[in-house]
Amino acid sequence: MAQRGFTLWFTGLSGAGKSTLARRMETLFRERNLKVEVLDGDVVRTNLSKGLGFSKEDRDTNIRRIGFVCKLLTRNDVIAIAAAISPYRAIRDEIRRDIGSFVEVYVRCPLEVLIERDIKGLYKKALAGEITNFTGVSDPYEEPLNPEVVVDTDRETVDESVAKIVATLVALGYLEPAEQEVYSAAEAEMVEKRLGALGYL
Ligand code: ADX
Repeated sequence: MAQRGFTLWFTGLSGAGKSTLARRMETLFRERNLKVEVLDGDVVRTNLSKGLGFSKEDRDTNIRRIGFVCKLLTRNDVIAIAAAISPYRAIRDEIRRDIGSFVEVYVRCPLEVLIERDIKGLYKKALAGEITNFTGVSDPYEEPLNPEVVVDTDRETVDESVAKIVATLVALGYLEPAEQEVYSAAEAEMVEKRLGALGYL
């Protein structure tokens, strides 16, 4: 089967696990000889979005740029993976409409857990007021209302989250099931229920 392009869009708070999951999915696709590119917010902000800050306007510009590149890749049948906070629902939905083949993954993790983990030490600074407009602390994050996948990274292992995403991509016809992939009945039922509720099945 020829490779069909799509955009896998990770959204969620800083430190929730977007980049980790994006890289894991990238490896999985490459292992299957599929063409893939990752657009990671932290990386994009060092080049394509260099100089942009964290006002609503700058975030929207950043996300629209990432969305634009995802669109170009997707229409050339490359898998585009985006991993940016992308806090505003309207912009995410605008990109979804624009690209069409769009799978949104909400990387969910309670703020308390992120503050506790604080891998980059940014939550501490944000809570102390040293960083302003910090998403989840002093700036909004609008949860997706109808994401194709929700992963709860405070309760799932990375492998479990990856399995959920893969099962969804298979159910949506974006990915061929691998022979070694065996989903538990509960997992398959959960994915089917979710996609049924979204009107795919
Ligand atoms: S987005 O809002 O435009 O989607 P993006 O994902 O590119 O954000 O960048 C978020 C990263 O920038 C965070 O993981 C964090 O390392 C850093 N950062 C610095 N300042 C802020 C801030 N005020 N709010 C959120 N993240 C910030």
